[in-house]
Formats: sequence, C-alpha cells, structure tokens
Amino acid sequence: MTDPAKMSEADAANRLMRLAREIARHDAAYHDRDDPEISDAEYDALVAENKAIEAAFPHLVRDDSPSKKVGHVPSSPLSKVSHAQAMLSLENGFSDDDVREFAARVRRFLSLDEDESVALTAEPKIDGLSCSLRYESGTLVLAATRGDGTVGEDVTANARTIGDIPETLKGAPDVLEVRGEVYMAKEDFADLNARQEAAGGKIFANPRNAAAGSFRQKDARVTSSRPLRFYAHGWGEISAVPHDTQTEMVAWLQGLGFPVADYFRRCETVEEALAVYSDIGAARAGLSYDIDGVVYKIDRLDWQDRLGKVAKAPRWALAHKFPAEQAETTLNAIEIQVGRTGKLTPVGRLEPVGVGGVIVSNVTLHNFDEIDRHRLRAGDRIKIQRAGDVIPQVVENLDHDEDREPYPRPQTCPECDSEAVAEEGEVDIRCTGGLICPAQRFERLKHFVSRGAMDIDGLGAKSIEEFLALGWVKKPSDIFTLKSHRGELLKREGWKEKSVDNLLAAIEARKGFDPGRFLFGLGIRHVGAVTAKDLVKAFGSVAELEEVARSDSALEKLVDVDGVGEVVAQAVIDFFHEPHNREEVARLLDRAAPADYVSDVQETAWSGKTIVFTGKLESVSRDEAKAQAERMGAKAAGSVSSKTDLLVAGPGAGSKLKKAQDLGVRVMSEEDWLAEVAKS
Ligand code: IVH
Repeated sequence: MTDPAKMSEADAANRLMRLAREIARHDAAYHDRDDPEISDAEYDALVAENKAIEAAFPHLVRDDSPSKKVGHVPSSPLSKVSHAQAMLSLENGFSDDDVREFAARVRRFLSLDEDESVALTAEPKIDGLSCSLRYESGTLVLAATRGDGTVGEDVTANARTIGDIPETLKGAPDVLEVRGEVYMAKEDFADLNARQEAAGGKIFANPRNAAAGSFRQKDARVTSSRPLRFYAHGWGEISAVPHDTQTEMVAWLQGLGFPVADYFRRCETVEEALAVYSDIGAARAGLSYDIDGVVYKIDRLDWQDRLGKVAKAPRWALAHKFPAEQAETTLNAIEIQVGRTGKLTPVGRLEPVGVGGVIVSNVTLHNFDEIDRHRLRAGDRIKIQRAGDVIPQVVENLDHDEDREPYPRPQTCPECDSEAVAEEGEVDIRCTGGLICPAQRFERLKHFVSRGAMDIDGLGAKSIEEFLALGWVKKPSDIFTLKSHRGELLKREGWKEKSVDNLLAAIEARKGFDPGRFLFGLGIRHVGAVTAKDLVKAFGSVAELEEVARSDSALEKLVDVDGVGEVVAQAVIDFFHEPHNREEVARLLDRAAPADYVSDVQETAWSGKTIVFTGKLESVSRDEAKAQAERMGAKAAGSVSSKTDLLVAGPGAGSKLKKAQDLGVRVMSEEDWLAEVAKS
C-alpha cells in the first residue's frame, strides 16, 4: 500500500472510491452469498488502508465509506427487524502494541491515575455470526442477525431450532436481549459438507459460511437439520442490569442457561491479557471450533458506559486478531479452472499439508501475474497461508528464481478448447467460446433469454437449470428445439399443459425477432444492448456483421461505427474468430432467424440537413430532440458553423444563437421544431 502521506489528493480520492466499492463488493459476497472471494486478512488489510487514507485526508471521507458502516443489510427473503439497541462491531488490533495502546487510550479517556488498575476480560473470538435474542418476561420473542447494526433479519424460527438457545429463562428481567455468536463446530462442518457433497448440495468454504448459510434460511426446517451452536458474549437492551462487571454478567448469563466461551478470563493487567492471548493461540488448533482472535473488554460496566462508542465500535473493547497461519509444502501442479463468466484461473495443487489444524491441498493463484510474481513452477517448495477461511494462498516461493521466463499463458480453454485471450492491458485471460463452453453455459443461457435480450417469458433461471440438468438445453440454439420434449416436460412436476404451451409459444414468438436484441443475447464481451443495436444498424444484419468481423479490414470497419472503440471491435472479432461460436451462431440464425435491421429513418424535408439544438428544451430532452432529427434524416451537430442549416433555440440560448444570427442560419423555437416533427 502507498503511504497516505505521499499520496496526492486526487490519488487519495480515487483510492477511497475504489476501496468503498471493493469493500462493499466483498461485504455482499460474504454476507449475502456466504461465499467470500478473499481471506479475512486481505479484507482487514483493505479496511486498514481505507482507515489510514481517511486519517490523512479527513475531508475526503465518503458518505458511503466502509468506516461508516457496521455491516451489511443482506438482500435476502427474510424479513427485516430494527434492533432496540444497535449491534456494534469491534475495532481490530494486530500486535501486542495495539493492545497496549488500546489500554492507554482507555486510561486517557477516563483520566485514570497511573496506579489505578484497569481490569480486562479476555475470551476467544469465535468465527460465527452474531445474533441478538430478545426475551420478554423470560420468553424468547425475537431473534435477529446483526445486518448493518441497526436493521437485521428476523431469524426467530431458526433460532428456536438451536439446542443451545433456551426458549424460556427463569429469573430474567422483564426485557433481556442476549447477544452472542451462532457457529458450527469444525467436526460438524466436515460432516455437513460430506452430506452436502453426497446429496449434490452446496459445499461451504469454512465453518463460518456454513453457519451463516444454515442460520439465514427462509425455511427453519433446513436450519433444524444443521448442527448449529450458540454462545453468549454480551447483551443489548436490558430492563435491569443485575451486576457491575462484565465478568459477573457473563457468569450470570451462564447461570440463566446460556453457554459462554471456554477460556473466558478476567485479567488485572494488559500483560496478563496478552498472556491469555498466547494461551488461547496455542490451544487454537485443538479447539473444536474456529476462532480468529481474542476479544478484550473493560471489566467495569460504569467505565464501559463512560467510554461509549465511536462510529461503529465500542471504545471499551478490542479484537486482537491472530496472524494468518502458514506452512511450507510442494507445489505439485498448476491447473486451470474456468469460471462462470469465462475467466481462466490458475489453481495450485499441493502436497497436502496441515495449516492450523486443517489439511490443505489447493491454493488459489488468482491470475497469471501472480504466478509470475512468485516465478512459480510445478515442483517448487512454497510457503502458503491460511487466514482462518477461504482457499489458502501463496505467500512466498522458497525456490524463487528471478531468471525464469513468465509462465506460459493458456492458449485454449481447458473446458471447451476454444481460444483463450487476454485483453489489452488486462491480466485476466478469458475463454472466447462463451456460447458453447460448459463452464459458462448457465450464465450464457440466462443472459440469452433475459429481458434486454430475447426476453423469453416463462424461461427463468429455475427452468434453465432444470433443462440443463436434463441435457435438453446446452446452448441457446437448443431452446428452439425444446418443443420436441413437450411430452416429457408435461410429465414433470411443476409443469402443466398451460405453462408448457405458454413457454413454447413464447419461444416461437421470438423467431424473426429484433436483430439488436438477438446480437446482445449472444453475450459478446463489451457488447451491451446499445452497442449491439449500433452494430446491426451499421451492417444491416447479424450475418453481415459476422462477414465484416471475419474480413481482413475488420478492425477498421468496426471502429468506424459510432460508439464502437477498439476494445469492443476486438471482442467482436475474437468472438467470430472462434469456430465453435460461428457454428452456434449459424444454428441460431437458422432456428431463430432474427430479422434484418429496419431503419426507422424517414425521408423528410430535413433529410441531409444539419441541425443544432441550444438553450433549454422544455418538452423533450436534448437526446430525444437529436433522435427526432436523426429519424427525420437530419444530422444533429454540436456547434454552429456555415454548414448549419437550422438552430433550434430554447430559452437561455447564448453564443450559439448569436453566431447563427451572424451567419444568417435559420433559427426556430422548440415549439416550431415540434410542429416540424409532427408534420414528418
Ligand atoms: S463483543 C459491542 N465478544 O465479532 C461488542 N464479539 O468483529 C460486540 N464476536 O459482531 C461484540 N466473538 O459477532 C464480542 N467474544 C466475543 C466475540 C464477538 C465473536 C463477533 C461478534 C461481533 C464481531 C466483531
């Protein structure tokens, strides 16, 4: 990371924008899909970088800054609930000095004397998901996930299925919100994944994701079949606080029937707390659940109250994270996987090795630049790291050799043998056989039938999955042969004569469809709906576009089209260069027979004339006015010159109006212009 002190303001603003976006993306991957792309350590590094830049440029802190958000309101079908008291997050520390600094800050804040002791509690930070349990008159009435800290999800029915969570409490105050962690033990996680694999279900990356995926279920019966546990580490709203310290409160919660963390310790000094950190660290691999650090809390509750909180975390607590766990092993092979969008990702196959109690046999290599950075080759001894979760990564190549040539880039896709290409200036290599590549099938089919493309009613993601599984539809052209499966489809659950016939009719209705939407549906990289329309407009039909894309002067002809640059042109050329794609396009042209482009440009009194719009237009937008001019065969220009035939001037017209008058160009009002449009 660049030192924020050396950053220009513009660089800092840019980096903050990127970080906000990137962190939000990782939040969604982690919380909504329970499927993180990066390790917790990498995530923490992004957050720390954001924090450092914000500290150096406080006036650049963004409204959507990750430092302002506690978490993430998940987009899920569970209903939302507001928390009576915010569910906070924890500040992270990574070194002993961070912990000492935390204690010193507390002392300063409370203006304590040197000799006054500040007792702390220390307990493991279990890697699960936080949950708030609300009891009224001793009965569980609501369970909620943290969400963004203010609004979470209602998981009451799910919580009732967890054995560790009592349904009723004896001797509890009228209102008591118990806060704690829902988690899955390592062994239960392994068993669950084995069962999931046997049943063809989702495989979870780690116990935390398995716990989150199991707990945040619409159907509580699914949750009840999953081995979840709970332990209490605090409280939210409470009508009467029965004790004065964290230690007594935790013991009280335990007395009420809640499991609390093993290794919970009260420490008189920071050094004692650091010793507990070492003990817990040493015990970590042998624990039955994943932990990612130790949480310290100021023991006295009156001090906790005085300390209060900063934006998203209490000042009276700190999470002391464990460093990532590392090990050395041999890289046996480098293999290439193809993602759902065609990205080729190298994966390292390892001599299996234990890292922090888990046997690891694969590492992610991210991309080919990453391989080059480490100069990796099969057979190298490498140091890997597992940061508590996700797929481990390479930290160092112990056989590093600067003189090695770059690793050969794959020329073809290992799944479908289509050509694989890297875009100018991009590190990623992609398969160009999008239409036929098995790894990309599902996404491509979904795109082909989507609203902006062929818009086939009744052919949603679920049906596509079903037809894929049956082997009926592997590529877009197969959609047009679905009718041959009508009889079989009628026998399947969930399909009635009416729904089957509606679907088949919707498919038939797409024969002879709009060529722009057909082209967009092919999913050529960088060819969005508008570009697709521009391309068929320029060349008249998809078949003609293919001709052009295969010609010697393809690049020239393509970049000649308004709105098409070199990147788009090259993507179109790459697409039609791939024989598999051409075969599929031929089948599609045969079966779906898209129409030729029909120009909506009319012959009018304005054909061939140049028109400029200026000033404020009141009943149409500027873009619409230009489109009107184009449909009337005219050209819309931006500035007035001797070649201008007409200036349409709205209120506030300035220099262009003056220039038009000087040049003797005809001028008319918006109203007059609309009358011209109406006439044409
Ligand atoms: S105390 C007001 N104690 O870590 C402070 N949190 O990274 C609330 N966590 O949202 C948290 N073990 O879900 C606390 N012993 C522990 C914990 C713990 C795990 C989780 C909790 C929190 C997250 C923050």
